[in-house]
Amino acid sequence: MPGLLFGGDYNPEQWPEEVWAEDVRLMAEAGVTMVTVAVFAWSRLEPRPGEHDFAWLDRVLDLLHAHGVAADLATATATPPPWLVRDHPSVMPVTADGVRLEFGSRQGYCPSSPVYREHAVRLARTMATRYGRHPALRMWHVGNEYADHTLECFCEESARHFRRWLAARHGSVEALNAAWGTSCWGQHYTDFEQVAPPRRAPGPVNPGQLLDWRRFCSDALLELFEAERDVLREVTPRVPVTTNFMSILHGLDYWKWAEAEDVVSDDAYPDPADPSSHVAVALSYDLMRSLKRRPWLLLESAPSAVSWREVNVPKPPGVMRLHSLQAVARGSDGAMFFQWRQARYGPEKFHSALLPHGGERTRGWRETLRLGRDLRALAEVAGSHSPGEVALLLDWESWWGLEAPESMPSNRLRLKELMLAWYAPLHARGILVDLAPPGRDLSGYRVVIAPNLYLCTEETAKELARFAGQLVVGPFSGVVDARDQVHPGGAPGPLCELLGVAVEEFWPLPDGRVQRTTLGAARTWAEWIRLEGAEPVARYEGGDLDGRPAITRRGEVTYLSCLLDDVTPVLDDVLTRAGVAGLDVPPGVEAVRRGGHLFLLNHTTEPRRVALPWPGFDLLTRKPMRDHVELPARDAVVLRIEGSRGRTK
Ligand code: GLA
Repeated sequence: MPGLLFGGDYNPEQWPEEVWAEDVRLMAEAGVTMVTVAVFAWSRLEPRPGEHDFAWLDRVLDLLHAHGVAADLATATATPPPWLVRDHPSVMPVTADGVRLEFGSRQGYCPSSPVYREHAVRLARTMATRYGRHPALRMWHVGNEYADHTLECFCEESARHFRRWLAARHGSVEALNAAWGTSCWGQHYTDFEQVAPPRRAPGPVNPGQLLDWRRFCSDALLELFEAERDVLREVTPRVPVTTNFMSILHGLDYWKWAEAEDVVSDDAYPDPADPSSHVAVALSYDLMRSLKRRPWLLLESAPSAVSWREVNVPKPPGVMRLHSLQAVARGSDGAMFFQWRQARYGPEKFHSALLPHGGERTRGWRETLRLGRDLRALAEVAGSHSPGEVALLLDWESWWGLEAPESMPSNRLRLKELMLAWYAPLHARGILVDLAPPGRDLSGYRVVIAPNLYLCTEETAKELARFAGQLVVGPFSGVVDARDQVHPGGAPGPLCELLGVAVEEFWPLPDGRVQRTTLGAARTWAEWIRLEGAEPVARYEGGDLDGRPAITRRGEVTYLSCLLDDVTPVLDDVLTRAGVAGLDVPPGVEAVRRGGHLFLLNHTTEPRRVALPWPGFDLLTRKPMRDHVELPARDAVVLRIEGSRGRTK
């Protein structure tokens, strides 16, 4: 579809049919181009086993099409209907304590249930066959936010599935014993049948088992997605397939997931109560852009308040628009919302919507109309893609190992926080950052930062050694291999030669303790390291580590053995060496280049004067601009940079 997409989740099954006519009239007025339909509609589409009621959805899709609105049509499998659960109680997931969960919410399925899978795939085929040629159909929406409520299940069926997965990964029970280190605490297995999911146990569970469980849970849900996707591709090979991601989600390895789908889509819910939430959400948008290295789609966000936090703060005037433009700046080909019409009942009756309870007289509806107009004005931005200058490494397996629930030197190391420590100052400098998994070609970047690589294989270490630009490695890296076993000789294992240091002892800091260094204060983590060819850049000051090296450099490689409160001195040095300049913008103003356009977004509540690096034409006000711009509070300009074509790839 040309231009940027605009719309949201549409749940007509929650409304009497008279309301639908008003819905489509108002959608047309607001410039809505696509809505997501039938996500939770299984129990209405198949009220009894094998008995379908499609008439209402036929009418909805016809009505949408007649009003120029396309459908991101769900296969409707996100919540199995009551009859399926009552006929087959094994469909419901079981907790680590052995409690089988009840019906009455959503996502009530065990990822390994063959009964759920069979019925879901059958429904996907029925939907594809019925609607594959419907002119409103633009995209398939499989499941919904996999792992939102149901990431794992500990039932016997899941145990069998886990054993099959383990047999395929390890080959033999002896190999599994070796990988999990079962000689420790007397866990040696003699048969796969003895192995179970990491259910509640008397003490800490084997970390090798936990790491494989994390891999398995991501894969088990992916299998479910792929089973539906395969049917859709068979019946409707030309219709793209997506499933909505949940930003940077611990449970699912999105590098793998993105390969399995045609379009990356994301649901993002930055907290309006947190004045810095636009930074963390920018990081997740950059991940979405990096997954397939092409445009993606913001499939859900909140027009104002959500309903699932303890306190659900609304978005003040202008913020819905500003956040939507931010997603577009970072590669989204549209802005979609949860949801179109605000519900009157159910758990989401207080969640905001494009059309609030109060209807057309509300400020919410006026903001909807304004955003629709603005997205139309930005149509030429759609389809363009800019690669980043700096890459941040993100490896899910390492993340799972790092954040094991127990038995670590410190459980204060949280990967998202470690990433944000580097990302925030890059964001403030308007430097576009890509995320990259181990194994990706890094040669296009001038700077690569690995905030943490707790799990680092020999192959990853070799790839990093081949990278010719500035490399920065954060603490507690190169500790274990893919089995979660400490590398011979200890950290940084295979990175030892590259970094030119050996870590003799981890020195986690108690909560609140500050460890000074010559480059600023560190908290949470430090290390006793020995130089093995690297030069010290900074030393610890005071305390037990006084005078020992804290930050080191060998050639183009910088190593930090601690967590600085502020990484700016290290970052600025590395950027200067790499010749990466960034953009000069005042605090709270986000600058992003996408193709031939420059987005300037003022996230503050004050006006900001911004010097323009290039003259251009503001697509929002339709005015030429040069030298500088006065950006009102919570407002934006989108500059078509002079000399660049509207549509640059
Ligand atoms: C998620 C879900 C939606 C809705 C929203 C509310 O994104 O996918 O169905 O529950 O949260 O914020």
